[in-house]
Amino acid sequence: MKLSTKLIHAGIEPDPSTGAIMTPIYQTSTYVQSAPGQNKGYEYARSQNPTRKVLETALAHIENGKHGLCFSSGVAATDAVLRLLVPGDEVIAANDMYGGTYRLFTKLFEKMGIKFHFINMQNAENIKPYINANTKLIWAETPTNPLMNIIDIAALAAIGKPKGVLLCVDNTFASPYLQNPLDLGADIVLHSATKYLGGHSDVIHGCLVLNDTELRDQLYFIQKSVGAVPGPQDCFLVLRGLKTLHVRMDRHCANGEVIARMLRDLPAIGKVYWCGFEDHPGYAIAKKQMRGFGGMMSFTLKDDSPEAALKVLSSTKVFALAESLGGVESLINHPATMTHASIPREERIRNGLSDSLIRLSVGIEDVEDLVDDLRQAIG
Ligand SMILES: Cc1ncc(COP(=O)(O)O)c(C=O)c1O
Repeated sequence: MKLSTKLIHAGIEPDPSTGAIMTPIYQTSTYVQSAPGQNKGYEYARSQNPTRKVLETALAHIENGKHGLCFSSGVAATDAVLRLLVPGDEVIAANDMYGGTYRLFTKLFEKMGIKFHFINMQNAENIKPYINANTKLIWAETPTNPLMNIIDIAALAAIGKPKGVLLCVDNTFASPYLQNPLDLGADIVLHSATKYLGGHSDVIHGCLVLNDTELRDQLYFIQKSVGAVPGPQDCFLVLRGLKTLHVRMDRHCANGEVIARMLRDLPAIGKVYWCGFEDHPGYAIAKKQMRGFGGMMSFTLKDDSPEAALKVLSSTKVFALAESLGGVESLINHPATMTHASIPREERIRNGLSDSLIRLSVGIEDVEDLVDDLRQAIG
């Protein structure tokens, strides 16, 4: 099946009891057994739920993997991967990533004895000096949040695999419609399904997709032992979101391109970060590993003061000032005080995330309204 067909049909069977074409929301905590240990494959809803199972199967197909696992949020999925590690293990992570991931790593897992190296991965070779016998995991996002840097997934896999180091790629920004990390050698793909997969800003959800069955069993054990599982209603919402991912992403990409090029021409703009520009340092890699450039971008103003940024952030009328991304509606965000506030300022500035940086999640409204809105807000 081609991806657009998979998004609608993969893993979905009409409900066996009624023929309902839409997967029912199995709102139950437990399942009746005919005798102790005799059941229909479902014992207790923290361990298994039919709505969640359909979604896990669908996600696996869509990311070209064998196994899917769903969690109550993207960070719960991240947490599950980190729980594979033991004190003394080391992680090489990108130095530009979602602030909540950074917070989880540095505030919770560092004190459990896991050592993190935050590295500029725009050149994959940069990770080589940090690999040693304790290195267990490479963690990358691409495109990165919020600077839209591109990391070469195949190059990271080629360096890590011979040393037995797992590669986990957070594919939230690209979505499976634009990029499939497992095909490029990653071991685990992570999504905050809260974003493009759900697509309608109405659910918090996360997932992992992978091929290795032993690794899946370890992560399943963590999923059921920790219990950070999504409810069936949330799984249903993500299942419904998946069915339109391709049409939404086409429009996010088309609108994103118009907005990025328009912003670049405005006199008040300093720099626009969007990986579809031919002069973006990661353009060649993005062309190679992605099927489009998406609707995420960031920009700075020539007046690089927080005041100037705050004026723009509070002047848009169609773009809503809010955390999150990937929904049908356009959002504007100030990473320094919102999504990335948990990264210490010096660290943020060192990695290029300035106080005035503004991030856009370009939605699927009429692009002329989006252009007009930004023009009037930026001036
Ligand atoms: C790239 C990325 N990964 C992971 C997460 C965490 O996902 P959630 O908010 O669903 O826990 C986010 C949230 O913004 C994100 O942007």
